[in-house]
Amino acid sequence: MKTRIAILISGRGSNMQAIIREAQEGILRDCCEPVIVVSNREDAPGLARARSMGVRAVALPSRGLGRSAYDRALIRLLEPYEIDYLVLAGFMRIVGPDLIARYPNRIVNIHPADPALFRGIGAYEWAWETRREWTTITVHLVDEGVDTGPILAQERVCLRGATSLEDVERRGLAVEHALYSRVLRALFLGERTSPEASTSLDSRSHAPNPSLDAPATDHGQGPRLGRPPTGTAERGTESSSPFASRPHERESWESTEPPSRPPSS
Ligand code: GRF
Repeated sequence: MKTRIAILISGRGSNMQAIIREAQEGILRDCCEPVIVVSNREDAPGLARARSMGVRAVALPSRGLGRSAYDRALIRLLEPYEIDYLVLAGFMRIVGPDLIARYPNRIVNIHPADPALFRGIGAYEWAWETRREWTTITVHLVDEGVDTGPILAQERVCLRGATSLEDVERRGLAVEHALYSRVLRALFLGERTSPEASTSLDSRSHAPNPSLDAPATDHGQGPRLGRPPTGTAERGTESSSPFASRPHERESWESTEPPSRPPSS
């Protein structure tokens, strides 16, 4: 039986698009069914993208709603679809306790930085403005803390020689699009340790980010992972994951799957 997912977005939806594509014709096709895409913004370009790929997509506007009221509306909306996992992909809301309680350990998020170094909106801007040589894409479970969920996987992206913010983002998104589906596949097929096995983020210190105090934050941002990257991949990336903590494990994990195709974004 395929894992039924709802993908939550707020904007462009390039990660959403990558996941749908992998579910339709790539590494998620045997284990994942994107049932519905929900945006908290009516004008999110990702809604049309999802529909053009044959996936139901609806707007559930969040403007004027508090966290709890919005979460309850979302739960009501999703209930008939019998969703197993919520996949956050650029969803610019903090997930509250109501939603966490309804989907415990079943909400996943992607954040384009190591949360120990940067949380909140604007991770690529931070990486560019501070001229970082690397950034670390992070996929994590969402828990009741603010960006404190256990990390499922991280992959480093080399930013050396980046010439612009757009260049930084392009490099990062290429990794995001591939990493997210790989992690979801491992999660849905049970190819991972329990969430408790990865380091919870609340105990770790992190750099302050004023955007965390804003009412809406990019829930791709969370605190971070305990394990430093260990595997080295091509093109200046490194990976770390409970599923594939050593290069040979990752190779065997991926070798049984057809190659993933990076989506256009
Ligand atoms: C991505 O960088 C993701 O990591 C972050 O928000 C951005 C969303 O981009 N959480 P997209 O909408 O998937 O193109």
